[in-house]
Amino acid sequence: MPISSLSSFEFREALGHFTTGVTVVTVEREPGKIHGMTANSFTSVSLNPKLILVCVDQHAKMLPLLEEKKHFGISVLRAGQEAISEYFAKGEQSTEAEERLSIRYRCTPSGILVLENTLLHLSCKVIESHIAGDHTIFVGEVEDAEIHEGEPLLYFRGKYRRIARHS
Ligand SMILES: Cc1cc2nc3c(=O)[nH]c(=O)nc-3n(C[C@H](O)[C@H](O)[C@H](O)COP(=O)(O)O)c2cc1C
Repeated sequence: MPISSLSSFEFREALGHFTTGVTVVTVEREPGKIHGMTANSFTSVSLNPKLILVCVDQHAKMLPLLEEKKHFGISVLRAGQEAISEYFAKGEQSTEAEERLSIRYRCTPSGILVLENTLLHLSCKVIESHIAGDHTIFVGEVEDAEIHEGEPLLYFRGKYRRIARHS
């Protein structure tokens, strides 16, 4: 199908055929106060130096925070953490809702706040950003990483999935 005949909705639906994990990007907006945003555009970029990227919508509250603070966390969600993904995709965040969902933060060795009980945490420093259409690509240098055992939450065609077990 020629791309010109696809609406933005259809284009998003088409790209939804690419399966991803789900991450939450976190920034400390003021001391001890976190803003989080669900993102599946997270990608590894380079091994030496150790770089990752995430693409952020121009309208997201996260965008000016990343531009200003320059440091952010990436937390890769586990299977079963759909509610946490949905919470950080809503844009309305409160201490009460976070208590209800048992969301807790922890500080990494580089002083970045990330989500506890996730599959992987990365502490990152923004080293480059590029405006690309209606998103900005933030390239982050990884300062520390912590890996935990478990299975990932997956996202495919607009729905959460899990890795299936075949015997
Ligand atoms: C599974 C999933 C993945 C998402 N990935 C991204 C993404 O990569 N970049 C983005 O800007 N928004 C993404 N979103 C939408 C944002 O999470 C949502 O618009 C959020 O409210 C924006 O955050 P903020 O405005 O509070 O900073 C995703 C949403 C979901 C449910």
